[in-house]
Amino acid sequence: MKKETSDSSYHTSVLLHESIDGLAIKPNGIYVDATFGGGGHSKEILKQLVEDAKLFGFDQDEDAAKNAQDDNRFTLVQANFSELKRFLRMHNALPVDGILADLGVSSWQFDTAERGFSYRFDGPLDMRMNRLAEKTAADVLNEYSAEQLQKIFSEYGEVRNSKTLANAIVGSRTQKQFETIADLLSVCEANQTGEKHKYLAQVFQAIRIEVNDELGALKILLEQSVEVLASGGRLAVITFHSLEDRLVKNYMKHGSFGDEPVKDFFGNIERKFKVITKKPIEASEKEQKENSRSRSAKLRVAEKI
Ligand SMILES: C[S@@+](CC[C@H](N)C(=O)[O-])C[C@H]1O[C@@H](n2cnc3c(N)ncnc32)[C@H](O)[C@@H]1O
Repeated sequence: MKKETSDSSYHTSVLLHESIDGLAIKPNGIYVDATFGGGGHSKEILKQLVEDAKLFGFDQDEDAAKNAQDDNRFTLVQANFSELKRFLRMHNALPVDGILADLGVSSWQFDTAERGFSYRFDGPLDMRMNRLAEKTAADVLNEYSAEQLQKIFSEYGEVRNSKTLANAIVGSRTQKQFETIADLLSVCEANQTGEKHKYLAQVFQAIRIEVNDELGALKILLEQSVEVLASGGRLAVITFHSLEDRLVKNYMKHGSFGDEPVKDFFGNIERKFKVITKKPIEASEKEQKENSRSRSAKLRVAEKI
């Protein structure tokens, strides 16, 4: 029984063919789509798999379950991809032949006002991909110290006046706690520097990364990918901002997150991956025109040694 569904109104897949080509799929292999979302990448992977092959789709958002493929080869795992190894072991699916991760939020999450990801709509200050998680965007704004807020605005959003904004947030919440997007917008608008949309995008990105511990989860995914991939297995990762891209690039190249390779006692570099994409693959002009989200996408592919 193979009813393949993927809902393009939920999300339009970015770098679809480039990322699937990067996986160099073995038709009878075991594959992981670490960020199932609307299921567009999964659908393409399934097209290349034979009857007894397997695909595991991970997504921490319960809304993604409505896109689950009705296909005997497919298993949806509603969990954070930082739990990759545990779930694959539980499903007796180790080692795997390829892992794809298409990071960040889906258009569905971004465009649904009550999820609180976008400054374009009013709604609750939520921003959790997993709605069972404890920490919301409102919690970050109401509970973090000015120093903590400044750090996330500066590191995760490259907000130029991160200190001013952090202090304004701490001042504002003594009058009224943050609850809605409108509450945050009024503080941002009073303190913004530069172009309004760019400023808001930076502030919202920073809070979202913090709420979902996106960089922490990515680091764990990268480390676990080495443990769960078979030798010759492929890892393909699509990132949307420089912080993610740097982690992926360094890990694929050096087997560590820093800019320098880690050497053993004898000075040898212990490589974990062979890098397949010397430079990241970006969306074609046509794709960038048709899907503005693809403009910041970068695909990197590596092969487990
Ligand atoms: C960009 S969308 C993926 C879209 C998908 N590739 C497609 O073609 O429809 C990212 C998805 O990954 C999920 N996600 C992001 N980080 C995650 C994590 N750490 N663990 C599990 N799912 C995650 C989000 O909930 C979202 O649904």
